[in-house]
Amino acid sequence: MDPSWRLGLRTQAEERRDVELAVEGSFPSWLEGTFIVNGPGQFEVGGTALEHWFDALAMLRGFRFSDGSIRYTNRFVGSKDFRVAREEGRIRRSLPGTPADASPPARLYRAATGAFQDNPSIGVVELDGDLYAVTESPIGIQIDPETLETTGRRDLTAGLDATVTLGHTHVDDGVQWGLAARFGAESTYTLFRRDPGGEPTPLTRLVFDSHPPYLHSFALTERFVVVPEPPFGVDFRALGLRLPFGVTFLDAFGPRDAPPRFHLLDRGTGERVAVVHDDPFFIYHIANAFERDGAVLLDAVVFEDDTAVSGLSIENLRSESPDLPQGDFIRFTLPLDGGDAGRELLRRGPVEFPTINYGASNGRPYRYAYLAATDRGSLPTGIAKVDVTGPTAIEWADPHLHPGEPLFVPAPSRSAEDDGVLLSLGIDTRAERSVLCCLDAETLSERGRATLPHRLPYGFHGQFYGPVDPGRSMA
Ligand SMILES: [Fe+2]
Repeated sequence: MDPSWRLGLRTQAEERRDVELAVEGSFPSWLEGTFIVNGPGQFEVGGTALEHWFDALAMLRGFRFSDGSIRYTNRFVGSKDFRVAREEGRIRRSLPGTPADASPPARLYRAATGAFQDNPSIGVVELDGDLYAVTESPIGIQIDPETLETTGRRDLTAGLDATVTLGHTHVDDGVQWGLAARFGAESTYTLFRRDPGGEPTPLTRLVFDSHPPYLHSFALTERFVVVPEPPFGVDFRALGLRLPFGVTFLDAFGPRDAPPRFHLLDRGTGERVAVVHDDPFFIYHIANAFERDGAVLLDAVVFEDDTAVSGLSIENLRSESPDLPQGDFIRFTLPLDGGDAGRELLRRGPVEFPTINYGASNGRPYRYAYLAATDRGSLPTGIAKVDVTGPTAIEWADPHLHPGEPLFVPAPSRSAEDDGVLLSLGIDTRAERSVLCCLDAETLSERGRATLPHRLPYGFHGQFYGPVDPGRSMA
């Protein structure tokens, strides 16, 4: 028998429009709005099997909650990469783990001109009232929130001297905070802020050599931006020399000759306030960070090394005994006067996709983090709620379900930090259907679930837009 997690790593090419879902139990009546999740849709292009989880062609899953009903739509993102894949059966640009279908001179030209993929499978962000599907790319693909149709493109690097912007950003008081990267002999990460309706304002620039760290996200506190600098990343010099011959970003991914550090940057001026050293780490996702007693406390899912990236090959994820890195939920103490970081284990992994009550707690002292936890195979098997102030943690699991990222949506009453629900798009492995689960965030008891008309691949990040907008960044 196939391992159950393989269901989450198989293509779903079917697109459904505006299907009303049957609900078991109930979703709260106050939950009005749209939940949009981004993630893989298709793992092959023409006759080529894509090699890495981050290569898959992006598909949006949308749920509209209105007057007690849930209507579902899914649609591939209409990127140029997607159109060329569908119409010509060809990989237009090198994907993180799969080389482009192109001649060596064409690959060389593209490498020299910094031509990047535009297939955005990581998540969704809102900018100036419009929604964009995003990844680590220069381009945001604009989508219609109701139909999920692709309606435009936006150069997210405009006004920034950069090759790409990170998919994860922060939003605080209507201001978007982001990092933009430029890769080359001298590589840089530029911290910028984007005021509503305005152009981005660069605040400061971190400068590296041709082997910069890979950054997926960063943290925002009331006074600081915290940038983790893992000792792993793509060696762009090696990549530039070998890209024409089919070497990929991930082939060139590995240890850097640089110490692992955290940079604490002043939010107002961009000035670097402190550099804090630590043992080697790799971080995709930060739950939260805040200041206390002369230090920033930063809670993140932490891997020991770069197998956090290389281990996410499709072949490994689909295997019967996947060899996967374990991400633990760890609190770092980062002194404001620099020095060495302290570490405290908040919850042993494997865990991933941490979320919080972002609107109420991001950047401030908080109590609860929610994570997808794994006890077998390559996909999560439960959802954990961790009280970061104490030893208490509770967990929800269904033996026939691989739950997705648990997105916290606050109740209008906002009577407590955990007054709300978690939305998690999972896979029911018995029915071979995807299901949208709704858990009470206080108790983790299941309130309701809605079964989709088909099975989807396991997704990445989601956003909820409505009157009780969680105000969440994609972090
Ligand atoms: Fe992410």
